[in-house]
Amino acid sequence: MNNFIFENRTKVFFGKGCVNEYLECLSKGYGNTVMVAYGGGSIKRNGIYDEVINILKNSGKNIVEFPGIMSNPTYNKVLEGAKLVKNNKVDLILGIGGGSVMDCCKAISIASRYDGDLWKDFWERPGVFEFEPLPLGVIVTVAGTGSECNGGSVITNEELKVKTGRDYPQCNPKFALLDPTYTFSVPKRQMISGAFDTLSHIMEIYFSEPDESNVSDDISEALMRNVIKNLREAIKDPMNYTARSNLMWDATMAENRIIKLGKRTDFECHQIEHQLGAYTNCNHGEGLAVIHPIYYRHICEAGQLKFARFATEVWKIPNKDKTTLDLAIAGVEALEDFIKEIGLPTTLQELGIMSNIDLEEIARSCNIVKGSYKVMTPEEIYEILKECYE
Ligand code: NZQ
Ligand code: ZN
Repeated sequence: MNNFIFENRTKVFFGKGCVNEYLECLSKGYGNTVMVAYGGGSIKRNGIYDEVINILKNSGKNIVEFPGIMSNPTYNKVLEGAKLVKNNKVDLILGIGGGSVMDCCKAISIASRYDGDLWKDFWERPGVFEFEPLPLGVIVTVAGTGSECNGGSVITNEELKVKTGRDYPQCNPKFALLDPTYTFSVPKRQMISGAFDTLSHIMEIYFSEPDESNVSDDISEALMRNVIKNLREAIKDPMNYTARSNLMWDATMAENRIIKLGKRTDFECHQIEHQLGAYTNCNHGEGLAVIHPIYYRHICEAGQLKFARFATEVWKIPNKDKTTLDLAIAGVEALEDFIKEIGLPTTLQELGIMSNIDLEEIARSCNIVKGSYKVMTPEEIYEILKECYE
């Protein structure tokens, strides 16, 4: 295994009723003014908003609301939130939602304590912290990104047409409340997309060196099997608490840095999806579902031993009479079949992307990372995107 240092500063409270049980006590640890940040209004329809506001009011908090955080949150929305925080002398940000709300809140927590050019100094290049970001607590309402237990914040700069993420340990939420029953009202399509995002995170870590025996890969295989099994259960019965709680914790486990320990990690698929998102605003998990199998067809031969292991350990494909490469390809095909089975899009057309989109420009704008079995070029990414369109 490669060398590593491990720390995760987020305290997680997991399970049915956790908000009611712990939020009042947790919010006492900060000052009096809480900014309640949320998305487009799902929390008002499913009752989560009322529950949280009552708890905060009963504990005498001064509440500032920051609604309307959109999916794929924008840099302008971050600046709007930071202004509200500064004007109201907010002591704690409480983000209620999914990856978009949590990521936007993390960026606000830096922006509200920084007077320089946030984008240039923290997103374009790695930031230097000479201050502590404003404390953030989160209540997760849709599982998938795992943003609740890391410092990752993916922001879209619409002017620059760049969607990019940074993971600052200083931005880990101070606390994260995860009640699986809060995810019952998530539309099926989003539930599936979120679970696929989780699977994608695990695969992006798993398909990278080192390949010799290591505990991160073994945990990853168990997690992948768990996501697949419980997503199938949750599709059959969205109110299945066991399935929803497994999916929720899988999402956190995939992105709380544990399975990254000792691994190089890839995340090239995420780089491609993020730029696709910057140009089209497509749904994150759905974009990944289209790109993954095609990207894997491109790198499968170079990483055939690992893809063959994926076939046998995750999909239980018998290795009898198969070459390593045949087995590796069978693993990618199993992933492709699963994407179809769960009803995710398999082409950019199904994702609703118009044929006049400039895929070459998108390919050229993608970050190229070096963690994969085969380092991409802009030309190969363009080929992949064209194949995604067919
Ligand atoms: O906005 P509202 O009305 O709340 O509706 C949301 C939104 O439309 C809805 N929703 C959330 N909880 C619900 C609910 N609907 C009904 N009942 C509930 N309980 O779900 C929709 C999607 O929410 P969103 O937060 O956008 O989805 P997700 O959690 O997939 O987050 C996506 C964002 O996270 C980034 C993505 O790139 C994307 O911008 N990512 C963040 C990562 C990180 N910080 O570690 C890693 C990921 O790879 C990812 O890049
Ligand atoms: Zn993701």
